[in-house]
Amino acid sequence: MRRVYASGRLHSSCKLNLLLRNFSVATGRWMWWGDVPVGPPDAILGITEAFNKDEKANKINLGVGAYRDDDGKPYVLPVVRKVEERLMERRLNKEYIGISGIPDFTRASARLALGKENEQISNGLTVTVQTLSGTGALRVGAAFIKRFFPFNKVVYLPSPSWGNHLPIFRDSGLEVKTYRYYDADTCGFDFSGMMKDLENIPEKSVVLLHACAHNPTGVDPKQDQWQEMSHLMKSRKLLPFFDMAYQGFASGCVDRDAFAVHQFVRDGHEILLAQSFAKNMGLYGERVGHLTLVCESSDQVKAVESQLKIIIRPMYSSPPKHGALIASEILNTSELYDQWLLELKGLAERIINMRHKLMENLENEGSTRSWMHVKDQIGMFCYTGLDQNQCERLVREFSVYLTKDGRISMAGVTTKNVGDLAHAIHTVTK
Ligand SMILES: Cc1ncc(COP(=O)(O)O)c(C=O)c1O
Repeated sequence: MRRVYASGRLHSSCKLNLLLRNFSVATGRWMWWGDVPVGPPDAILGITEAFNKDEKANKINLGVGAYRDDDGKPYVLPVVRKVEERLMERRLNKEYIGISGIPDFTRASARLALGKENEQISNGLTVTVQTLSGTGALRVGAAFIKRFFPFNKVVYLPSPSWGNHLPIFRDSGLEVKTYRYYDADTCGFDFSGMMKDLENIPEKSVVLLHACAHNPTGVDPKQDQWQEMSHLMKSRKLLPFFDMAYQGFASGCVDRDAFAVHQFVRDGHEILLAQSFAKNMGLYGERVGHLTLVCESSDQVKAVESQLKIIIRPMYSSPPKHGALIASEILNTSELYDQWLLELKGLAERIINMRHKLMENLENEGSTRSWMHVKDQIGMFCYTGLDQNQCERLVREFSVYLTKDGRISMAGVTTKNVGDLAHAIHTVTK
C-alpha cells in the first residue's frame, strides 16, 4: 500500500516500493499503470467465453440474459425491422438529440410504464429522461439520490439481486444493504422475511424493487403482497426505486407486469423508475431506456428535471438516437404498437411454454424432486435450486453452461434441447 504522511511526503520504504512497481528498468521509463491490479472477469461473459470454446455439438448456453428463438438464435422483432426500414426511407440526419432525449419517446414510454390513465403524468407531476437502457437509468437515478436525497443515502437491495445492482449503487457513492427476498427452502418468495426487514429498515431510506420478473430468481410477489408492501413502505416512509427491465416479458401483458408500479403510484408513493427496452423490444445493444421520477409539485418537476440534465451532461452529454426513434415509432403508432404487443406476448409465451416442457421432461426422467418452481417462477430466469457442485457437474459432464448460483436463462431452452437439459439436470440431482 502506498502511504502518504501528513507532510505529504512518502516514507522512504514506500518510495522504494513505488519505484519498484512503477519504474521499468528495462526501458528506463515510469509506468503510469504499474499499480493497476488485474480485475476478475465478468461472471456472465466468462460463461459465454467458456461455451464458445467448448467443441461439443449438443452444448447449451443458459448463462446469457437475452432472448433466443426456438432454434437458439438471437431474434429481432419483425416490428423493429419494419420500423427500421421506414426510418431508412426517411433518410434522417445524425444531429444530436437533447440531453433528456427525444420528447415523443419519453412521453410515450412514461405512459407505458405508469399506465395510460396515470394522473401524475396528466397533472404534469412526472419527470422522464431517456437513458442508456436500464443500467443507465439506474446509474443516473443513483447519482441523483447521492446528490439530492436529503436522508439516508443507503439503498436496500433484495437478496439476491441482479449482479450489477451492487456495483451501480456502490460506484455512485451510496451505501448498499440488503433485505430478505428469496426462500431457498421453497425456491419461492420469502414474503414474511421481506416484510419483517421492511419494518426494520430505517425510515427515509431507498428500497430497490424489481417491478416484475425478478432477476436472478424469477420469483415475483403476488398482487395482494405488492399491496401490503406498498402500505408498509408508505407508513415507514421508504422511497421505492423500481427497476422494470422486463415489462411485458414476464406475463406477456405490459399492464399486468406493471401492476406494482401502478399500485405504488396510486398509493401516493413518489417513486423512481428505471425502464429498459432491451428485453421487451429486443433493443439490447441500442441502449434504450428511461428514468422517471414522480414529484409532488410542478416546482419540484422543474428543479428535478434541470438537475437530471446537469448530472447527465458531463456523463455522456446526450443519449443515443437510433434505438429511441425505433421505440418512439412503435409506442406512438397504434398499428405498430398493437403488432409489438402481439410479438411481445409471443416471446413471453415461448418462455412460459419452455418452463412447462422442462418440468414435464424432468418428471419423465423419473425425478422425484419437486420442480414446481420451474413452472411457477416467471420471466427470463429460473433459479433452479441446484448447488454449486451440481452446476459444475452440468458444465463438466453435459456442456450445459449456467451461473454458479443455479440460475438458468429460460430463453436458451428450446424444444430441441429441453430433453437433453432435463436429462442432465436429473443426472446431477438424483
Ligand atoms: C434486473 C435488471 N435490471 C436492469 C437490467 C438492465 O439491462 P439493460 O441495461 O441492458 O437495459 C437488467 C438486464 O439484464 C436486469 O436484469
